[in-house]
Amino acid sequence: MSFTVLGTGSKLPDTVVTNDDLATFLDTSDEWITTRTGIHRRHVLKQEKLIDLATVAAKNALKNSGVTADELDLILCSTIQGDYVSPAFACVVQKELGATCPAFDVNAGCSGFIYALDVADGYFARGRAKKVLIIAAEAMTRFTNWQDRSTCVLFGDGCGAVVLGEGDDLLSIKITAEGNFEALNIPHTQGNCPYTELDGKESVLHMDGQSVFKFAVSSICRDIKDVTQAAGLTLDDLDYMVLHQANYRIMESAARRLKISMDRVPSIIHETGNMSSACIPIVLDQLNRSGKLVNSRYIALAGFGSGFTTGACVLRCHKF
Ligand code: UT7
Repeated sequence: MSFTVLGTGSKLPDTVVTNDDLATFLDTSDEWITTRTGIHRRHVLKQEKLIDLATVAAKNALKNSGVTADELDLILCSTIQGDYVSPAFACVVQKELGATCPAFDVNAGCSGFIYALDVADGYFARGRAKKVLIIAAEAMTRFTNWQDRSTCVLFGDGCGAVVLGEGDDLLSIKITAEGNFEALNIPHTQGNCPYTELDGKESVLHMDGQSVFKFAVSSICRDIKDVTQAAGLTLDDLDYMVLHQANYRIMESAARRLKISMDRVPSIIHETGNMSSACIPIVLDQLNRSGKLVNSRYIALAGFGSGFTTGACVLRCHKF
C-alpha cells in the first residue's frame, strides 16, 4: 500500500518584487535576469510570517482533499528553516491547524518535497498512517545576500501543500545525496558563545551557479529516466514533467535532452523565482486547480538541491 494525492494547496506572499525593482539597488537588469533565468518577478515575505503562508497552503490542501485536521496521522514539513530553528516548523503549523498527530521537518534542500513524499510512502507501507499532510514552506529571501547579484535575484518565498491518503498512485520514487556542501550552502548562525572561535562566515547563501546548473541538468535526466523505467513507462507516457524551478534554462536543457516538449514541462519561475522545495507542490497545485490533471495519466516530478540531493517520482494522475 502506498498513497494517492487527495488534495493540494499553495500560497505566495502578497508582495511582488520585479527585476526592475532589484535594479534600483543592484548592478543588474531585467534583461540579464530574464534571459539568463526566465525570472520576471518573485513574491517576498514582508508583513507576513512564513507560518501565515504555510497555514493557508495547508488549509487549502485540507479543504481540497475533504480531510479534516483531526484526521491527520502525520504532518511533514519540508523546509530549510521555518520561523524558528526549534521547534520543527511542522509543529508550528500543527498548532495553527489544531491537529494532534506527530509532526516533524525534513531538510533536503530543494529536493525536500520529494524526500517528504518518500518518508510518507514508508508510513503508508508500514500501515502507520492513513492521512498525511506535507507542507513545503520556504523563505529563501531570508538567506540570500542582498548585495550579491549573482544569487539574490534568483529566489522568492512561497508554500505548497498536499494531503495524501492510502492508495496506489505512487508508481516509483528515488532519492539520492552526494555529500557535497561546497557548491551550495548556507552556513549556520554562529551564536555568541564566548568559548567558540567564530570563523566570521555570514549565514547567507553561497553558490557556484555553473556547477549547480550542470549537476541539475544531468541529475534530472538520469532520475526521470530511472523513475519512468521503474514505473514500467516510457517518457512518451508522461503527460507532465514537473521540475524544480531554479532556472528556466535548466528546465529547457533537461527537456531537450529527454526529447520532452516544453508544453509538458509546466513553469511558474517567471512569476515566483526559485522557492526551494516549495516549487514542485505549488506547480502541482496550479495544475490541479486549473483542471489540467483531469484527463492526464502520469506525471513525473524531479528536484535537485543543496547536498547535492535529488529526488524524483512518477504519480498516477487524476484530479486530486
Ligand atoms: O535550487 C538550486 C539552486 N540554484 C540553481 O539551480 C542555480 C543554477 N545556476 C544558474 O542558474 C546560473 O548559473 C546562474 C543564473 C546563477 C548564473 O548564470 P550564468 O549564465 O551561469 O552566468 P555566470 O555566473 O557565468 O555570469 C556571467 C556574467 C558574469 O559577468 P562577467 O564575469 O562575464 O563579466 C557575472 O558577474 O554575468 C554576471 N552576473 C550578472 N549580471 C547582471 C551575474 N549575476 C548577474 C546579475 N545581473 N544578476
